[in-house]
Amino acid sequence: MTWPDTKASAALRHKFAADLDPQRTTEWAEAFAAVPRHVFVPRFYAQADDRSWRTVYWGDPGHLETVYSDQALTTQLDEHGIPTSSSSEPALMLAMLNALDVRDGDTVFELGTGTGYNAALLSHRLGDHKVTSLDVDPALVEGAVQRLEQAGYRPFVTAADGARGYPARAPYARIIATAALRSVPTALLDQAAPGAVIVAPIGYGVLHTTLIAPGHATGRFLSTPAHFMPRRVPTIAPAFEAVRDREPTDTKVAPAEVLDRLRFPLSIALPGHNSCSWRDDDGKLTAVGLWAEDGSTATAHVSGAVRQIGPRRLWDVVEDLAAAFPGVPRREEFRVTVTPSRQTVWYESPDGPTWELPRGEAT
Ligand SMILES: C[S@@+](CC[C@H](N)C(=O)[O-])C[C@H]1O[C@@H](n2cnc3c(N)ncnc32)[C@H](O)[C@@H]1O
Repeated sequence: MTWPDTKASAALRHKFAADLDPQRTTEWAEAFAAVPRHVFVPRFYAQADDRSWRTVYWGDPGHLETVYSDQALTTQLDEHGIPTSSSSEPALMLAMLNALDVRDGDTVFELGTGTGYNAALLSHRLGDHKVTSLDVDPALVEGAVQRLEQAGYRPFVTAADGARGYPARAPYARIIATAALRSVPTALLDQAAPGAVIVAPIGYGVLHTTLIAPGHATGRFLSTPAHFMPRRVPTIAPAFEAVRDREPTDTKVAPAEVLDRLRFPLSIALPGHNSCSWRDDDGKLTAVGLWAEDGSTATAHVSGAVRQIGPRRLWDVVEDLAAAFPGVPRREEFRVTVTPSRQTVWYESPDGPTWELPRGEAT
């Protein structure tokens, strides 16, 4: 099936590109104006207030208008209705592409092909043969390759764990990830060319780093908030049943802080943790839950009652963060030092709060 580029879609796309970058301050406006997003998102899932999903197809009222708007669009759901792929929010894509700072002739590696839209933008700017893009999901790769061809692009796309890179086409001058990682994968550091720029979501932020020597990089987080799908790893279940029997302790930190002010630093302090919330019939927050892959689980009720179980006391980490950050933490003050043996995040100064990211993602 092909998705024609009509007068209407072309007009919407040009307005969309102009709105994304009104001053045309970047070279990417031209790529956003040229690459037909609707070819990569011929259908998407929209969530209703009751959290049920509805499929919006090409030709449905509003499809083109939504595709050519600054919205992340869910394109794949698992059997539980959890999104597993999406076309990211265009303004965030633009911010990440700007941060990537590509130059003519650069080779680029992308982790997370998804729809293929970002790979098309990169191919448009740099040329097909410079772009390598991997997605862990073979069905997504098959669809992305077809759509890329339809739009006139033939980058190298294959199905594999992107955290292992693709050594046969390395070194890469630029590396971009579009799934959230817990640290910079060692394999990607190894496959980065001298001076390479790496832009990758880590937790709920986007890290921008530059390779300063083999295996060594420095960088900081972009100021822009980010919520990417996590790199797919086996899922773990929270121990909510067991934690319910625990004697509660008291907290002065409001559970809502975990979903708001402390969300980003918590994703750095507890890489790869999961969270959920409970609400009453009026939608008011009643409690939050946290769990990690070692089975540690915590719940915090708005009454102040905290229950924790497992090898790590997850709510204690929340309390420490709340004490370290009296206000809203500034993402761009989170900096990173990468060496072959450790990856350290520090806030404002190396003497300030620091956190170690897990070593050896995907190794
Ligand atoms: C936000 S979507 C990517 C959006 C994509 N760049 C686009 O333009 O449509 C995240 C993608 O990362 C993929 N992904 C998750 N874990 C991965 C892994 N370990 N290696 C490669 N891709 C992965 C998911 O299958 C999903 O398609």
